[in-house]
Amino acid sequence: MTGLASTELSDYAEKLIRGRHATRAFRPEAVPGETMRAIFSLAGTAPSNSNAQPWRVEVVSGARREHLADALQAAHAQQRASADFPYSESMYAPVHQKRRAAFGTDLYGVLGIEPDDSAARAAYNAESLRFYGAPHAAFLFVTGDGGARLAADVGAYMQTLLLAMAAYGVASCPQGLLSFYADTIRNELGVTEGKLLVGISFGYADESAPVNRVRTERAALDATTAFHV
Ligand SMILES: Cc1cc2nc3c(=O)[nH]c(=O)nc-3n(C[C@H](O)[C@H](O)[C@H](O)COP(=O)(O)O)c2cc1C
Repeated sequence: MTGLASTELSDYAEKLIRGRHATRAFRPEAVPGETMRAIFSLAGTAPSNSNAQPWRVEVVSGARREHLADALQAAHAQQRASADFPYSESMYAPVHQKRRAAFGTDLYGVLGIEPDDSAARAAYNAESLRFYGAPHAAFLFVTGDGGARLAADVGAYMQTLLLAMAAYGVASCPQGLLSFYADTIRNELGVTEGKLLVGISFGYADESAPVNRVRTERAALDATTAFHV
């Protein structure tokens, strides 16, 4: 007996938050417009510093999605990367690298890609620019000066969005890779404001795909969190 007082809401939260996971194979059916509006309206309740709400969200579906996927693959093939937020492997600490490697082993293991087969990994990543087959993608832009504090607010929006999707039975995959082609996305969607933080592919999960059985673990609570009294 731990003395933990659970409530109906905490039981739901445990189920919702622990039940969300990244999905990398989708069925083609579209999410109904009404469900989409409910999800994005819920996501908009995310907290932000002094309620500035520094996000701009662009959602693509249908023919625009198809066209954008083609443009992203072309940009990738022609090495026209344009990231608004700098990326470097050196930003990761050794402990992060260890966790990333364990994740890579699990993901590529399920896909049947050998650890040293960099060509197969690259091909899988290039294909992921088609949103893993998801019928929709959302792009989260950071407005204002696009600095770290505002990006953190958009991070809060992202997780709120992922949970709202999970609550409505909609599967998702945040894809940092999509943010490496910010200019392509801006041009295709006519976006004139903000820095692209991340793209999120979403739709209904293909439950039969082995890749969707990948489950990640987390560091022990005490490894990341201290309670000071
Ligand atoms: C900001 C961000 C960027 C991500 N980028 C990618 C990506 O480019 N491709 C991908 O397949 N998954 C990507 N992911 C998903 C992570 O790999 C996944 O969230 C992590 O391994 C934990 O697994 P879980 O989401 O299933 O709990 C990203 C997640 C976040 C939050």
